Amino acid sequence: MIYPIDQIRSDFPILAMQINGQSLTYLDSAASAQKPHSVIDCESNYYRKEYAAVHRGIHTLSNNATMRMENIRAKIAHFINAASAKEIVFVKGATEGINLVANSWGRHKLKPNDNIVITEMEHHANIVPWQILAQEKQLSLRFIPLQPDGTLNIDLIPLLIDEYTKLVSLTHISNVLGTVNPLSSIITQVRTISNALVLVDGAQSVMHHQVNVQALDCDFYVFSSHKIYGPSGIGILYGKKTLLDTMPPWEGGGSMIQKVSLSEGTTFAEAPWRFEAGSPNTAGIIGLGAAIDYVQQIGLDNIEIWERDLMHYALTALEQVPDLIIYGLNQRTGVIAFNLGKHHAYDVGSFLDRFGVAIRTGHQCAMPLMTYFNVPSMCRASLAMYTLREDIDCLVSALVRVQRLLS
Ligand SMILES: Cc1ncc(COP(=O)(O)O)c(C=O)c1O
Repeated sequence: MIYPIDQIRSDFPILAMQINGQSLTYLDSAASAQKPHSVIDCESNYYRKEYAAVHRGIHTLSNNATMRMENIRAKIAHFINAASAKEIVFVKGATEGINLVANSWGRHKLKPNDNIVITEMEHHANIVPWQILAQEKQLSLRFIPLQPDGTLNIDLIPLLIDEYTKLVSLTHISNVLGTVNPLSSIITQVRTISNALVLVDGAQSVMHHQVNVQALDCDFYVFSSHKIYGPSGIGILYGKKTLLDTMPPWEGGGSMIQKVSLSEGTTFAEAPWRFEAGSPNTAGIIGLGAAIDYVQQIGLDNIEIWERDLMHYALTALEQVPDLIIYGLNQRTGVIAFNLGKHHAYDVGSFLDRFGVAIRTGHQCAMPLMTYFNVPSMCRASLAMYTLREDIDCLVSALVRVQRLLS
């Protein structure tokens, strides 16, 4: 198949924008991806012609909206090959998905002296909820160490995991280094030596390649809609149904109950609805459904090939930039983190912005990883299904100019 890049580019209206008098070079999709017409139109049509509260009406609009929301739950189950739509919980994003597991499963099941294993490359979303829980429940946190090439030292896993390890929670792809963690072999190792559950943070993964949660055999998987070309404020927690069924709710309110009595208390709806208290972000869910349709129509396999070629092109092209330090391996997906000599990432990012080039700058929500590499901040350029070689060329020539300006 010839990758329909021209069509894709024209499907994303923002890519035609000018920024600071320059054509936009958007290389910040790992922070948040742009949205195609189909997602924007789907959301706005919903508000225009189809809007109503879900799960609480008998009228046509409400019934239709409820049906659409539940159909999208099934679509997402199919997208990540979950065994059932009942394994899909709508949350605000990857962050809320992890917090749900910490507050429901973690609070309920963990005891003092249990431990949780994470890695040194995690996003704060997969560190802080566990630190809060560890403090509250007197747990310990252990870390699979990072290595200078940006990979994890998975040989140490048997030394880190013991009978008190209740959870291994790790990212599928590093949001800074682009390292693709060898999940299958990590999960097999964990299963061989313990009964610990495995949570995978897929925030940087689902938009780059096909994810199959059953083949991975993870217990939980989380991702955010806004990074896969969908709306913000919505995301997914996948959990094995047998597990979700044992977990108590973490938020109470409407929609998550079976029966509420002032004298007898409350009984709860079954999973996943038990975890969806209050009025859901239906427009977001509908937009996410449209985003998944869009990605599937292009085909994740095709997107993966396009982005792999682009990554190779980018790493080669960036060699032209004097003083550029790239962090991590050549084998990477989605992102390239770098610094320009000793210049602060904010300075580099601000100058790039003048040339219309948008990248992420700062600690990348991964301060422990910054500490590991002994830098306060990094720049990060990220690739998406709509990125062009010309975008990389713009980045490279802008970086060469910035390097001259700052030196
Ligand atoms: C690896 C990773 N995990 C979690 C998150 C948090 O995602 P959100 O802010 O959408 O909840 C991000 C966002 O950048 C991420 O890159």
